[in-house]
Amino acid sequence: MQILISSEQIQQRVRAMAYEIHRDHPDGVHLIAVLKGAFVFLSDLARAMPGRCSLDFMAVSSYGTSTNSSGQVQLLKDLESTLEGRDVVIVEDIVDTGLTLNYMQKILRARSPRHLRTACLLSKPSRRQVDVKIDYIGFEIEDRFVVGYGLDYAEEYRNLPYIAVLDGPAESRAG
Ligand code: IMP
Repeated sequence: MQILISSEQIQQRVRAMAYEIHRDHPDGVHLIAVLKGAFVFLSDLARAMPGRCSLDFMAVSSYGTSTNSSGQVQLLKDLESTLEGRDVVIVEDIVDTGLTLNYMQKILRARSPRHLRTACLLSKPSRRQVDVKIDYIGFEIEDRFVVGYGLDYAEEYRNLPYIAVLDGPAESRAG
């Protein structure tokens, strides 16, 4: 397995993102993590965040094979708190086709937050199928299937402290 982004690189970037988010939300921010993949990112991001911060969790499942999403999204766990009038930041592990984030933004925007912004650790711009706005991006990566730092393959590798490439380009995984 090839390490793509080291633990040190991740920690440095996550700290910088926490400061950026704080700068844009000096009165505090409500972070919404998308389970399961974002739990490690959320944990480091929240601990690096100066100022006030509250947390909530959502779980969604994207249908498809382990390495290729079909674009259908199902809500598995909803939030426990209301978003009306709050400054909300969605915390995502990775934006690939953008379909999951597009769905999240749509249902959360309907709950009337004051601001709705999005932070993702990784983005694969070449894979995008819908145009989603991401306000804070940790790293842009090529079309490779990656694991670690919360990201899994068949529920494994989430515990790795770095991001590693599991396989070759997506084309070679098709089918
Ligand atoms: P979407 O295609 O942007 O909707 O992403 C759907 C979900 O697929 C993400 O939230 C991840 O859970 C998963 N995913 C996409 N690319 C990768 C990857 O390279 N490694 C692990 N999971 C991924």
